[in-house]
Amino acid sequence: VSATGRAVADVLVDGERIVAVLAPGSELLGTNLATSVDTVVDAGGKYVIPGGIDAHTHMQLPFGGTSASDTFETGTRAAAWGGTTTIVDFAVQTYGTKVPDGLAAWHELAAGNCAIDYGFHQIVGGIDDDSLAYLPKLVDEGITSYKLFMAYPGVFYSDDAQILKAMQVAADTGLLTMMHAENGPVIDVLAQQLVDAGKTSPYFHGKARVWQAEEEATHRAIMLSNITGAPLYVVHVSAKQAVEQLAAARDNGFNVFGETCPQYLYLSLEEQLGASSEQWGEFEGAKWVCSTPLRSRAEGHQDHMWQALRTNDLQMVSTDHCPFCMKDQKTLGLGDFRKIPNGIGSVEHRMDLMYQGVVTGQITLERWVELTSTTPARMFGMYGKKGVIQPGADADIVVYDPNGHTSIGLNKTHHMNMDHSAWEGFEIDGHVDTVISKGKVIVDNGQYLGRKGDGSFVKRGLSQYLV
Ligand code: URP
Ligand code: ZN
Ligand code: ZN
Repeated sequence: VSATGRAVADVLVDGERIVAVLAPGSELLGTNLATSVDTVVDAGGKYVIPGGIDAHTHMQLPFGGTSASDTFETGTRAAAWGGTTTIVDFAVQTYGTKVPDGLAAWHELAAGNCAIDYGFHQIVGGIDDDSLAYLPKLVDEGITSYKLFMAYPGVFYSDDAQILKAMQVAADTGLLTMMHAENGPVIDVLAQQLVDAGKTSPYFHGKARVWQAEEEATHRAIMLSNITGAPLYVVHVSAKQAVEQLAAARDNGFNVFGETCPQYLYLSLEEQLGASSEQWGEFEGAKWVCSTPLRSRAEGHQDHMWQALRTNDLQMVSTDHCPFCMKDQKTLGLGDFRKIPNGIGSVEHRMDLMYQGVVTGQITLERWVELTSTTPARMFGMYGKKGVIQPGADADIVVYDPNGHTSIGLNKTHHMNMDHSAWEGFEIDGHVDTVISKGKVIVDNGQYLGRKGDGSFVKRGLSQYLV
């Protein structure tokens, strides 16, 4: 199955690469393939797809006095279990530090530890003269996209003037600007007022992060992009009004794109409000504290995200994998939702959760491949090597069984380094059977056969999604 169609075929792999895609029973150089190769993976009755590409993960992200609980080792192994063969993680530079130092630290964390191939985007926290001067160098290092924040004043935040200057450099260099589009200063005031009124539980995280703050920031980012001519990629879109901003801009010929995440398709603010457990009481809701926040189902955001994936108003699905345990991490925010580390762990489940959208008729099989692999490869300059099954591409291949079943939960299928699952109880009418990364079978019918260091750094080219 590819982004554009499906066919019955054999895929021939030699070393790390795909060398041929052939009609079943084909002979190559006079020999019958099925009898002349070393290894045959029988995918009869199953889907063979290019390995998943999760273009938004945060292994070990420092946040709110702690760090995301998956290391590159545990996080990429969990990704592999779930049929993802490439991640693009965010190297981090915060206020007062230098971009090359942050980047070097990220290489250090990842090198030799990954189960699958990985690339980096660069988070730039608070654009200044140094970071502006460094942006063009990122392209030479194969880091062709960077992320700015309109949220989190004092940590990652850039104001409009800073964003404008960065986008001017991006327009000159071909860098893709990724934007966390929420009006942080407004949200911080609303959050303070809620806390002052004694409204401190996890649910109020979502009440403070109003959709208007997402719509407004999305619009502003689009306009700054248009002023500068820099293409824009809005991350973790969750509000239907933000999608409408992107759709209107695209209808006007603007080069703007958006991603959403499984949590904004499946989970809601109402469910977060209703969450309670014996162990955590109403603090249970902290498991789903992320930014942008879960949105109201009554307001129709989730349905609108699925629709936008069908109409290409949104182009991709990434996880924004940013796992924190309840114990000692999420609980930092007991009594003040602002101190709950933001993020949900999903890197293991994206392919399954999106496949369930095929089962339920939300998207086609081809669109599933496009949203989870082919477009991420094109958007972030890896297409041809990744995101497609064709001669010359890396042999990153997943065999997916539409007759299999996956029960998601902590004591079922769970390989992320977390003490809970944000997806407990989700049932998937499909199963990742075999995962091949650069020609090596790393997951096979419930067995992990890879090891850390199998994955290497992918130097990315400029986006191939833009004219
Ligand atoms: O809640 C989230 N999304 N945590 C990760 C950081 C970010 O803004 O993507
Ligand atoms: Zn963000
Ligand atoms: Zn993120």
